[in-house]
Amino acid sequence: MRTLSWTMDIRGKGAVVTGGSRGLGAALGSALAARGARVVLVAREASPLEATVKRIRASEGEAHGLAEDIGDKTAIHRIAGAAAALVGPIDLLVHNASTLGPVPLRLLLDTDCEDLERTLGVNVVGPFRLTKALAGPMVLRGRGIVVHVSSDAATSAYPRWGSYGVSKAALDHLNRVWAAELAGTGVRFVSIDPGEMNTRMHADAVPDADPATLADPSQVAARIVSFLQHDDRLPSGARVEAASLEAEP
Ligand SMILES: NC(=O)c1ccc[n+]([C@@H]2O[C@H](COP(=O)([O-])OP(=O)(O)OC[C@H]3O[C@@H](n4cnc5c(N)ncnc54)[C@H](OP(=O)(O)O)[C@@H]3O)[C@@H](O)[C@H]2O)c1
Repeated sequence: MRTLSWTMDIRGKGAVVTGGSRGLGAALGSALAARGARVVLVAREASPLEATVKRIRASEGEAHGLAEDIGDKTAIHRIAGAAAALVGPIDLLVHNASTLGPVPLRLLLDTDCEDLERTLGVNVVGPFRLTKALAGPMVLRGRGIVVHVSSDAATSAYPRWGSYGVSKAALDHLNRVWAAELAGTGVRFVSIDPGEMNTRMHADAVPDADPATLADPSQVAARIVSFLQHDDRLPSGARVEAASLEAEP
């Protein structure tokens, strides 16, 4: 892996954030728009997505919403085409949308094969398809950053987190292979484990967790966006924990 400068001047750049209607994705959308990016958020449910878009437009900057399912293969080219039509070339792609699969989380012996397939479809195959649709133009322009939002379940074998953990491990490896294959093109990849955050996903997975012990997604988003703008240390294809990143300078 080669070490490349991560620094991206976000101002005016087209950015797609999947899973952008709430939680970390909405916080990333806000943080990117506040720094001048032209943001497209993707989520399935139109009404919370539109509410987030409206809030960002009122206080932070440019945002648009696309109500699509990242696990639906027919949606991928609609997303790529509509995003470019709305904000121009996409220089930043954040694969943040994710499913846990059925909750309460189940042991592998109790996991339906179809549920594992659906989890892999949303968490791995969808991101793969969307990168395929958007990375070609990035290579032609000689620049782009693709962020894969990972989890500690990618590296630790937590009982009951099987299908989700397998999908995040696969996503991390997809990140490494993309980076190896596109080395030298100016398109860079990073996997980021955001750590435990106070979001609906966390509440669905661990309903009795104390929210006071969990990070606020906006703080995690600020670290990630700061990293994308300022951090030169890591090679393309790296996996990093958000907690290890510097907060906004
Ligand atoms: N929260 C944590 O403690 C934690 C820890 C480690 C890693 N992560 C990772 O961080 C990322 C963000 O998680 P979060 O906690 O912010 O989750 P969240 O609050 O549940 O938000 C998930 C977002 O993804 C969207 N989404 C879900 N399935 C989708 C699909 N098939 N197509 C398009 N959009 C979809 C949701 O909107 P719709 O439902 O309307 O589609 C929502 O906007 C995920 O990748 C997660 O695995 C979270």
